[in-house]
Amino acid sequence: MVKITFVDPEGTARTVDAEEGSTVMENAVRNGIPGIEAECGGACSCATCHVYVDEEWETVTGSPQPMEEDMLDFAYDVRPNSRLSCQIRVTPELDGLVVRTPIRQG
Ligand code: FES
Repeated sequence: MVKITFVDPEGTARTVDAEEGSTVMENAVRNGIPGIEAECGGACSCATCHVYVDEEWETVTGSPQPMEEDMLDFAYDVRPNSRLSCQIRVTPELDGLVVRTPIRQG
């Protein structure tokens, strides 16, 4: 299992066991992580699964694909480390990943 930690805007950290091959968003929803709405169910068409990837993990998670970048235009308070969590696939290399949830989605 791969551990992923979600940190909310108040600084509360929640760590979940994520299954390889799933997405970061799916693990957030499955574990009831507050602040991840994922209205489109992972189709990259809602931008309500927006997270900030912790700096040290940015090279591991990689950059958004063009479709994700387009959707990020609809997200609130987008930053250079913004990603849509439904577009981050869980791999063994992501063990220990830390992402932060925004103050609000959309
Ligand atoms: S769940 Fe809709 S864009 Fe990620």
